[in-house]
Amino acid sequence: MNRRRLLGAGLAVLLGPAAARAQMPAYTWDDGSVPFVVTPMEVVSRMLQLAEVGPGDTVIDLGSGDGRIVIEAARRGARGLGLELDKSLVAAAAENARAAGVADRARFEAMDLFTADLSAATVVTIYLLPELNAKLLPKLLALRPGTRIVSHDAGIGDWPFDERLELRVPDKPVGDGFSRVELWVVPARVAGNWSLELPEHGGRWTLRIAQRYQLLDVEVAATGGRDFVVPGVRLRGAELSLVTNGIVGRRAWRNVFTGTVQGERITGELRASDGNETRTFAFTAVR
Ligand SMILES: C[S@@+](CC[C@H](N)C(=O)[O-])C[C@H]1O[C@@H](n2cnc3c(N)ncnc32)[C@H](O)[C@@H]1O
Repeated sequence: MNRRRLLGAGLAVLLGPAAARAQMPAYTWDDGSVPFVVTPMEVVSRMLQLAEVGPGDTVIDLGSGDGRIVIEAARRGARGLGLELDKSLVAAAAENARAAGVADRARFEAMDLFTADLSAATVVTIYLLPELNAKLLPKLLALRPGTRIVSHDAGIGDWPFDERLELRVPDKPVGDGFSRVELWVVPARVAGNWSLELPEHGGRWTLRIAQRYQLLDVEVAATGGRDFVVPGVRLRGAELSLVTNGIVGRRAWRNVFTGTVQGERITGELRASDGNETRTFAFTAVR
């Protein structure tokens, strides 16, 4: 029997062809292409909430179907662009945007998402198959640091998500009645050796950073300090925060660096506290 794969939980739900035909338009999926299946509106809403979509955002939906994600983003004040292979869906989405009164902020283009320039996006949304997402990974990771990516029901290769929701969605047309929504924030590239000067607190600090996506392994040293441990590090887009505990000037300090990565520089603030005294310093680290 010719079985077809449907989008759904785990994205590998198998149904017979009759059941498949009953639920969605005729589509050839055996060639690896993705069929048109809508994201239920309550899931669309949670996807946009998770990405904190609002005025000022440019949302690009890859494979926009009937346009619902782009239209809902436009309702929330964002600009939206839907990219879709199927011209009849592009026309339907444009009509839906007109009917919703957001045609000035919601555009649709008939094109292959793999050839698209996504650089204008502050948010990218996807409801595709895991294999396609994995192919998209290099393109998504190369977006501007801080760009948010939200996917419905599929991961992006081996890139660990930043946040995840699991929702019970009884009216979902495919799968097991649940939707998984995951968020990634494109990380700045911070791998390498950084140094910064704080003459009044530790002298010359060096940070050695190894990076795998947003996950960092950091070693910290300072000329006027010793025994640093790094109990906390977080990179979200271009925002880096780093906690280092250790001895500076014979006192034990908790040093919290928070900074913004811009190319070869990180600028920010160090708050150092020994429990009695708190010191604050501006810093610039260079790679
Ligand atoms: C599962 S539907 C999702 C529709 C919509 N984003 C939503 O969540 O309701 C996937 C859509 O991607 C489109 N699609 C598949 N491959 C594509 C490609 N290479 N370029 C553009 N669109 C594509 C399909 O035509 C289909 O409409």
